[in-house]
Amino acid sequence: MRHPLPELLYRARNPGFVADSAIRATTYLWDLVSPFEFSVLFREVQPYTMCSSARLRGLYRAVRYVAENRVPGDLVECGSAKGGSAALMALTSRRLGENRRIWLFDTFEGLPAPTSDDPDYKIASLFTGDCVGTLDEVQKLFGRLHLAEDARFVKGLFQETLHRTQIPTIAVLHIDGDWYESVKVCLDELYDKVTPGGVIQFDDYGYWQGARRAVDEFFERRGITPTLQRLDFSGRSLIKSADSAVQQPGVNLSSTG
Ligand SMILES: C[S@@+](CC[C@H](N)C(=O)[O-])C[C@H]1O[C@@H](n2cnc3c(N)ncnc32)[C@H](O)[C@@H]1O
Repeated sequence: MRHPLPELLYRARNPGFVADSAIRATTYLWDLVSPFEFSVLFREVQPYTMCSSARLRGLYRAVRYVAENRVPGDLVECGSAKGGSAALMALTSRRLGENRRIWLFDTFEGLPAPTSDDPDYKIASLFTGDCVGTLDEVQKLFGRLHLAEDARFVKGLFQETLHRTQIPTIAVLHIDGDWYESVKVCLDELYDKVTPGGVIQFDDYGYWQGARRAVDEFFERRGITPTLQRLDFSGRSLIKSADSAVQQPGVNLSSTG
């Protein structure tokens, strides 16, 4: 079993991470007791997710945003582990009376190994095989929450599954695959399927250097300067605009609830 100390020592050198951990603890306590809709949904999925409440709130707002703005497309998550963040998106969609299809892509066997393209390879490699959520347990969660009908589970490496899966259009794309290769293949295969006006959320931009590198390099290759909205120390989101990925001026996801 992985010992948490090496990572803790590595992260503790970053004041942003320390400050964010304090905020995370406070919002967690708030969401445990608050009667507001997001907090109610948070409490349903919290045992099944590693995502912070700020990043789950980002997904909640993204799903509401595409509903309110009638952005067509499916909900897609690359990196589901035990299924909590995907369930949060599906529960939000159902609350809005929508029945968007939701796709969950994962090995369902834990994280693959990072590569030398991950600048923090030494720490990242300690996580190989971590974050396991089996297909069976995720399907059971979706069954228990009555979300199974609209859900599609795709087991395997993104590198092998994304290019052969027919998804017509995407309204919300949640990329939570941690490593350079994983994030890169998600953007290469799925970015063009995201409907203009749709939302892309990156879970690991501030946390894993390879994830950030994959995002930055992708937009650089495309000649796009995206405005990434900061959700917390790690999470970022953007609204894809018609001509590029630049966030539309005046559009703020935080205004959606
Ligand atoms: C941090 S976990 C996801 C957390 C999840 N969103 C939650 O709510 O807790 C990252 C997941 O990405 C998956 N993953 C990473 N790279 C992958 C790849 N190349 N192909 C398939 N799955 C991958 C891992 O198996 C792991 O379950």
